[in-house]
Amino acid sequence: MIRPIVAYGDPVLKKEAEDVEQNHPDLSSLIDDMWETMYAADGVGLAAPQIGLSLRLFVADGSPFGEGEDGDPGCRDFKRVMINPVLFDMSEEENVMEEGCLSIPGIREPVTRPIKLGVEYFDQDWNLVEEQLDGLAARIVQHENDHLDGLMIPDHIPAAKRLLLHGKLRDIGLGKVPVDYKMRFPKSKKRG
Ligand code: NI
Repeated sequence: MIRPIVAYGDPVLKKEAEDVEQNHPDLSSLIDDMWETMYAADGVGLAAPQIGLSLRLFVADGSPFGEGEDGDPGCRDFKRVMINPVLFDMSEEENVMEEGCLSIPGIREPVTRPIKLGVEYFDQDWNLVEEQLDGLAARIVQHENDHLDGLMIPDHIPAAKRLLLHGKLRDIGLGKVPVDYKMRFPKSKKRG
C-alpha cells in the first residue's frame, strides 16, 4: 500500500525516532509499504518518519546510481532495509553533493558529508549486519539516518542560505508545490 509522504514542516520529521522492537506489529507489511511508497515516488531512500512513523527504520535502493559506465559500482547492488542503524568510523575526508528529499519536493541543495563510514543495523530478518560503505551508498545512508535523528537537508546548509529558502519551505508546508506523488502537508487545509 502506498502511504502519503509527509512534507517538510510536519513535527514528526523533527523528532528523534524510537528504536524498532523485534515484535513490532506488522513490521514486514510496513517495510513492503515503504518500498512501494519509495518506488512510486522515484526515490532512492525512504525513512519511516517520512510516512509519519517515528521509528528507526529506512529502506534504500541506490541501484539507479549504479547504472551505466559512469555509474557508482558501490550502488549497483545497494538495496537495503536498515533497522536501528548505528553509523561509525565516519571518514574525515568529506565531499559535497546536491541532495534532494521526497519530503522537500523541488529543492536540491549541496550537502557536505564524510565519504566513508561503517554502519551496523538489523536487516529485515533481524540479522545483525555490519558493513563499510563509500560513495553514493554512504551518502544515501547518512541522509536516511539523518531522518531518524530529526535532521534534513536545511539543517546542513548555512543559516544565510537557509533564510533564502524560507519562503519555498513554507510553501511546501502549505502544499503549494507541484508534486506527482501522494503527500501529506502539515499546514494545508486540504490533505494532498
Ligand atoms: Ni530525505
